[in-house]
Amino acid sequence: MIYTTLVAIRHVRATIASWRSRRTDWYLIVQEYPADALIQWLVDMLRMPTAQTLRDVADAASFGIGAAVSGGTLRTDPHYRDLLRKEFNVITTENALKMGPLRPEPGVYDFSDADAIVNFGTAYDMDIRGHTLVWHNQQPDWFRGWERTPDQVESFLREHVYTVAGRYRGRIDEWDVVNEAVLDDGSLRETVWYDAIGEEYLDAAFSWADEVSDADLYYNDYGAEEVNDKSDGIYRLIGRLLDRDVPVDGIGFQMHALHSTPDLASVAENVRRFQKLGLEVAFTEVDVAYQAAQKPDDHRAAQAEFYADLTALCVREGIDTMVTWGVRDTDSWVPGWFPDLTDDPLLFDGGSDPKPAYYAVYEALSGER
Ligand code: G3I
Repeated sequence: MIYTTLVAIRHVRATIASWRSRRTDWYLIVQEYPADALIQWLVDMLRMPTAQTLRDVADAASFGIGAAVSGGTLRTDPHYRDLLRKEFNVITTENALKMGPLRPEPGVYDFSDADAIVNFGTAYDMDIRGHTLVWHNQQPDWFRGWERTPDQVESFLREHVYTVAGRYRGRIDEWDVVNEAVLDDGSLRETVWYDAIGEEYLDAAFSWADEVSDADLYYNDYGAEEVNDKSDGIYRLIGRLLDRDVPVDGIGFQMHALHSTPDLASVAENVRRFQKLGLEVAFTEVDVAYQAAQKPDDHRAAQAEFYADLTALCVREGIDTMVTWGVRDTDSWVPGWFPDLTDDPLLFDGGSDPKPAYYAVYEALSGER
């Protein structure tokens, strides 16, 4: 009887608290402990607060833990939806709001994926990050082939920003207004936007977004997490934008820790100088992978350590948002792009099970680490 009860209780607890249940080997306890110890264990188990998800501990810490979301997977995979709403309180549109997927033909907008993501985020009371209004990549083929004057480019971009940011006014909370405008040497990237309008395309994009949206407006980039030539260039660029009263609210450091781990002391120093400009800072596209041929002996433990240190850095430096670039390892862009890297850069494995990295973030947020 007591054994059956234990099994039943264990089953319920395991269902609501799978991460905690893995740490307690009830079977051994049942075999080896005397009856009074078993009863005490039962009482303790019942007293134990209901186990929380990562989202719960993030909510309690007023922290945004997020994932980039695929509209297609969201629509077709119930496990994905379940994991998202339980474990994350922030979502970013991975591809759905990029100009290419969004505008398949001239004059046509396909908002179906973006609407699915935004509606999901709204339904589950999540913070919603829009990615991205102005980028040099993932542009429609028809747009790339279009012969146009600088004035036409400017009108086109204005209409794009008004239409897309305007549609989600009041629903998207943060926008990556401009993505990846700076090269590794700190100079401005020559894009269709830069060639037509010059540096002021950033002024225009942020100002147009500000006119039609009440979201916080971010500049977002990769490889600028540490103090280096690129982050120096971005720092100077944003300084100029702010001097011209351009409405920039935040900077997103993508944090694709793929080829080498950024030095977190340098990251902290870099974060502080952007905060001193009055900007919000967020880690917007986090994933952690290693060269497969030279990976650490236990690369999942090393990965967990990095996630823990990054989360602790957030807490220490007043960064309140960290978004992973995907939900499960099998949703990640990394294996498709970098076959020479380890293929498991995220918090959940392909079977939706939490990895050591998940527990590391959890414990760093709940103060258990
Ligand atoms: O949807 C099409 C599908 O119809 C087609 O059959 C298939 C064939 O290749 O391609 C599919 O589109 C792919 C798309 O991801 C959706 O899976 C594109 O080829 C592929 O290029 C695209 O990659 C995206 C990449 O940006 C493009 O640069 C990744 O998913 C996306 O995670 C990645 O995200 C970027 C951020 O926006 C900016 N920072 C870097 C980050 C990683 O590259």
